[in-house]
Amino acid sequence: MIQVSHLTKSYGHRTAVNDLSFEVQKGEVVGFLGPNGAGKSTTMKILTGFMPATSGSAKVAGFEVFENPIEVKRNIGFLPETPPVYPDMAVDEYLGFAAGLHGVPKRSIKAAVDGALEKTSLGDVRSRLIGNLSKGYRQRVGLAQALVHNPQVLILDEPTVGLDPKQIIEIRELIKGLAGDHTVILSSHILPEVTATCQRIIVINKGQIVAEDTIERLTTRINKGLIYSMTVKNPSASGIDAVRKVPGVKSVSAVGPKLVVEINPISGETRDLIVAAAVHESMGVLEFSAERVSLEEIFLQLTTVEDHQV
Ligand SMILES: Nc1ncnc2c1ncn2[C@@H]1O[C@H](COP(=O)(O)OP(=O)(O)OP(=O)(O)O)[C@@H](O)[C@H]1O
Ligand SMILES: [Mg+2]
Repeated sequence: MIQVSHLTKSYGHRTAVNDLSFEVQKGEVVGFLGPNGAGKSTTMKILTGFMPATSGSAKVAGFEVFENPIEVKRNIGFLPETPPVYPDMAVDEYLGFAAGLHGVPKRSIKAAVDGALEKTSLGDVRSRLIGNLSKGYRQRVGLAQALVHNPQVLILDEPTVGLDPKQIIEIRELIKGLAGDHTVILSSHILPEVTATCQRIIVINKGQIVAEDTIERLTTRINKGLIYSMTVKNPSASGIDAVRKVPGVKSVSAVGPKLVVEINPISGETRDLIVAAAVHESMGVLEFSAERVSLEEIFLQLTTVEDHQV
């Protein structure tokens, strides 16, 4: 449904997006995750035809975005970083206008507007002027205009920014509910956001993809053995030293009965040998487990360690 190939965007000398390639299949909800300035919004603006790329190509629903702006507009709903606001328009009037722009036939506009108002819980403010709405409500209007023409593809740049907790949950549910029928890319630098809504994440940093996988696999991939924790009955200096000498062990630190063992990329054998060394030294192994690495740590590892390849 979405094919991005060697996409590059430079603003003058600054390269915001650097040779990005990825695909999104029909019905997938994919999270675009990256720190500030990573190039998320830039990529989204190119995908939606807001801005041309410097080189490379982007196809949405089979259409090359810059060659077929009208078809792409019909098929895409876009919530930009700063939602478009027409302060002098009433909410429903604006949504009707947005539906028309996206090619909804006149006779279907009312139903489309009612549907979008309902999905984003905006029914109560439908006749109010957008300029008088609070920030969170304006964000919902932005979402409603992205949904109003029931597009195949939704590109949402930080969709829950500025919403209250109840609305965040509702919008996340709404996005999850779109999976299957719709193809969604959403950006975020908030990890719970992507864990809550996405099946797959693309981690982007400094304009490049640093990882691309399901959240589950990404967690296990990094979890794979970097750090283990071992609790022993009788910690001893010679025992700790023996563990330290096991091939593949990078470091061992001990606090009371708890040893934190860092090892080189996974080998089942290293783990066996660590436990064997501890047993041999009569430390009495009570527990041996992989330290849980949180998504936050994964994110930091992926985006701060230079040349880190996973
Ligand atoms: N119009 C512009 N002119 C010049 N540089 C720009 C412009 N827009 C973005 N950039 C630069 O391109 C890079 C990527 O910006 P982008 O807005 O795509 O990042 P982002 O991942 O969306 O970040 P954020 O999480 O802060 O929204 C940044 O270095 C930014 O300064
Ligand atoms: Mg952005």
